[in-house]
Amino acid sequence: MMKLCMLGLAMAFATQATFAATAAPPLQDKQAFIEHLINQMSVDEKIGQLRLISIGPEMPREKIREEIAAGRIGGTFNSITRDENRPMQDAAMRSRLKIPMFFAYDVIHGHRTTFPISLGLAATWDMQAIAKVGRTSAAEAAADSIDMTFAPMVDIARDPRWGRTSEGFGEDTYLTSRIGQVMVESLQGSSPANPDSIMAIVKHFALYGAVEGGRDYNTVDMSLPKMYNDYLPPYRAGLDAGAGGVMVALNSINGVPATSNTWLMNDLLRKDWGFKGVTISDHGAIQELIRHGVAQDGREAAKLAIKAGIDMSMNDSLYAEELPGLVRSGEVTQAELDQAVREVLGAKYEMGLFKDPYLRIGQAKDDPKDVYADQRLHRDAARDVARRSLVLLENRQQTLPLRKAGTIAVVGPLADAPIDMMGSWAAAGRPNRSVTVREGLRRAVGDQARLIYAKGANVSGDKAMVDYLNFLNFDAPEIVDDLRPAAVLIDEAVKAAQQADVVVAVVGESRGMSHESSSRTTLEIPAVQRDLIKALKATGKPLVLVLMNGRPLSIGWEREQADAVLETWFSGTEGGNAIADVLFGDYNPSGKLAITFPRSVGQIPMYYNHLRIGRPYTPGKPGNYTSQYFEEPNGPLYPFGYGLSYTSFELSGLSLNSKTLKRGDTLQAKVTVKNTGKRDGETVVQLYLQDVSASMSRPVKELKNFHKLLLKAGESRTVSFNISEDDLKFYNSQLQRVAEPGQFNVQVGLDSEAVQQQSFELL
Ligand code: BGC
Repeated sequence: MMKLCMLGLAMAFATQATFAATAAPPLQDKQAFIEHLINQMSVDEKIGQLRLISIGPEMPREKIREEIAAGRIGGTFNSITRDENRPMQDAAMRSRLKIPMFFAYDVIHGHRTTFPISLGLAATWDMQAIAKVGRTSAAEAAADSIDMTFAPMVDIARDPRWGRTSEGFGEDTYLTSRIGQVMVESLQGSSPANPDSIMAIVKHFALYGAVEGGRDYNTVDMSLPKMYNDYLPPYRAGLDAGAGGVMVALNSINGVPATSNTWLMNDLLRKDWGFKGVTISDHGAIQELIRHGVAQDGREAAKLAIKAGIDMSMNDSLYAEELPGLVRSGEVTQAELDQAVREVLGAKYEMGLFKDPYLRIGQAKDDPKDVYADQRLHRDAARDVARRSLVLLENRQQTLPLRKAGTIAVVGPLADAPIDMMGSWAAAGRPNRSVTVREGLRRAVGDQARLIYAKGANVSGDKAMVDYLNFLNFDAPEIVDDLRPAAVLIDEAVKAAQQADVVVAVVGESRGMSHESSSRTTLEIPAVQRDLIKALKATGKPLVLVLMNGRPLSIGWEREQADAVLETWFSGTEGGNAIADVLFGDYNPSGKLAITFPRSVGQIPMYYNHLRIGRPYTPGKPGNYTSQYFEEPNGPLYPFGYGLSYTSFELSGLSLNSKTLKRGDTLQAKVTVKNTGKRDGETVVQLYLQDVSASMSRPVKELKNFHKLLLKAGESRTVSFNISEDDLKFYNSQLQRVAEPGQFNVQVGLDSEAVQQQSFELL
């Protein structure tokens, strides 16, 4: 019996190519077209389609082209110009079946033009701005022959020790889902087959943001209700918006690595969610199954991964090495192999590559003369979005906006740091194209004010960290330290401050500190910079802190020193101009935090929508045996949804049009928002709901909707929100999505803490 099986398989290997149907079905019939192609493919050609190769210094181009021509590579990433990719596509066109290659890249927050990091994009709460980022990024990347991006990253992050917090849209399920959806829709446009669209790959499936201790690549252990209610919806939203694929997370989930997790990949993703696109492993993740301790060798790792439903292996040689033997022995069936190939070919089909393999590569005569040319950038869009991402955290005695007059001291290690403006995962953005804060201020003041610059401190005194970050970036040094003693640097900055009317200190993290594999055990600004702040404060000059960072920082002490604090994340190509726009009041800040700022690292996890508990601490009414710490008050330094403006807003008169809601009906909540200040400005009215009593403890509140609106000075407007049964649903302990009858609180605020409340009953 065994022998017969083996014989059958061997025959299938030998004769597959001769089974080719005579006439190819028309291209319009996707399924028939792909099946016809699969029927003509040898096992080796099929396995070749499952390989996604990184183009890097270690891979000679000649060799890659040979492999492609032999049908042994399905796609590449990290080669990002038409003239690099054209010869590879030519090689694919020389292969037996002429299956086109695709070219992917991490286009996360811009391509040539760098927009603010994702955490900053989320702080805009502005879906039009985010759509602009997606559209611009796609068009720029497509013009550089990119077909696919590994974005959006929609991992909920509630532990800011995790460096990749910078790459996601914050802590909230609803906000992240909305942004994920907009990103997918804008990257792909009306179709991923459009010449100016690229395919979106939602990542990292799943729960990567919940790695234990915030330490990258660590394990994730999570209850199913928490998963279903809080962590999974953003991936689902991205896929429902039509994302072509999923990148699988590096972490394990409740003991089983995502890459070998049949529950996650088959039961949940394919069966429950009905996902039809391609799945791609993360970098080297199949090999890592051995180190996770679930595969004893490469053969088992490859087998586990393909059986779990990992279609493509990213930069991992195991599919190529092990699948031929596994298929030959029957341990991996033809059907399993074909299914993976079907998804890869399906993605290529959806990207329009079968119709025209050169869709985004174009003809050599049309190649840009200079891929770095400034005309290829979208500076206006970058400046507009960057301004919207800035969050004003403090502004005592209206220190801001500054006057374009007198003398301004610009100090700090990040004041003139082009590379840090870009943030991590800056795709094809180039530091020398980015406007630093110093440069932005210089352009803004022209000859109306005098600027004096001093670095004042290095980013960090931690040499090991600096060496590590410089080692990670092999293109250029990430951090160039000033080798003079710290005291000399501070002295220089103090002298600058003494001559100035106001000091703008640009401090925080270097971009590499908030990156993959860059976890921290503290959320503090490095000590050398705090010494600088202390010395600046001692000059008695008004002190404006401009923060650059990719995660919440615990800046309780710093905010006491400063007169104003502006959170700017890593704000991209036009960051310096955007920051100057806000500092001088040419733009009134409107950003709101998409993530809670804790007082200290010891408070983590600290997120606004935590579950209710039996002994909550009530500020002002402390009782015995309530939930609290000795050293610090409960609650955040800055809550989710928080951000100031140069004007002031007032909410009043929250009302509901009914005290009850029948299933299938809609309830309307109305609130009046007034601009009570002297400037026009934008704010975000946020709607939160609380399920007062349910079959499980439910969060103290959950964001369910928001409106961002511009109000002229003195203007009032009524904002209304519709609330339906769907907004009240959650996954119960049996994982049924239900809305349970009973009382709900409606809370509306301009941040998540200061809210007005009304109640209704779901019948
Ligand atoms: C990251 C992914 C990224 C991939 C390709 C990995 O290290 O985890 O997010 O898409 O590299 O660059």
